[in-house]
Amino acid sequence: MAQSSSEWLFNTIAPVYGLFFNYQRRQFKRSLAQGKSHLDLSNFKSILDVGCGTGALCSVLHENGLSVTGIDPAAGMLKIARKKLAGHTISLLQANILEPLPFADKSIDVSIASFVAHGLKPEERRKMYHEMSRVSRSIVVIYDYNQRRSPLTTLLEWLERGDYFRFIQQAESEMVHCLSDLKQCFSAVEVVHTTGQASFYLCTPTEQTRSDVSSSAAASSSSATAD
Ligand SMILES: C[S@@+](CC[C@H](N)C(=O)[O-])C[C@H]1O[C@@H](n2cnc3c(N)ncnc32)[C@H](O)[C@@H]1O
Repeated sequence: MAQSSSEWLFNTIAPVYGLFFNYQRRQFKRSLAQGKSHLDLSNFKSILDVGCGTGALCSVLHENGLSVTGIDPAAGMLKIARKKLAGHTISLLQANILEPLPFADKSIDVSIASFVAHGLKPEERRKMYHEMSRVSRSIVVIYDYNQRRSPLTTLLEWLERGDYFRFIQQAESEMVHCLSDLKQCFSAVEVVHTTGQASFYLCTPTEQTRSDVSSSAAASSSSATAD
């Protein structure tokens, strides 16, 4: 199957991305510590890392005692993640959040997507929020940019040609108002700022089920491929 421009981009930069694995681990540990009073992961057993990339967040979550599954459509990112996470019981799947995932409704305590949302188009984000709400029992965490910009991020995001500039303006309101087949994706959204350019958008999932998936999405088969 032809790869999307996002897959091409992340497959291309995967080796460089992987060089920042330890730096990213430190950043994730720091951010999770900052957000702990709002998001205490010790309350949960299982977590899905959507767009896990080279696996830095997966490794931190695993260290926190969680049963971790990481998904990503970019084979190059997953290849590095498999190397970095070798020896740990972390499940990695090649899968796209825009297609129905091979997980039952409400089968995972928490799902988290770190720096994935801003790279998707608004309609794609809506699909992602819906699918994360469907599989998650307790909380959906979107960890992504807030409105505190730096010149470097502005340049990189302009080059990436994602939806960064719109996302940072409307992230919270689009999560609050996200509708899928006239059902709300989330019943509540809380924004927790960290000291940097990212925030935790903590979303309470509603009772989304597989049958709520729009007919077009349901018709398209999952491209998820288990290891
Ligand atoms: C900026 S990277 C972030 C990687 C990692 N979460 C992190 O914080 O380092 C974005 C990741 O999202 C993945 N991604 C892009 N579109 C996706 C989709 N439709 N479904 C799942 N993952 C996606 C990319 O392949 C890439 O690995």
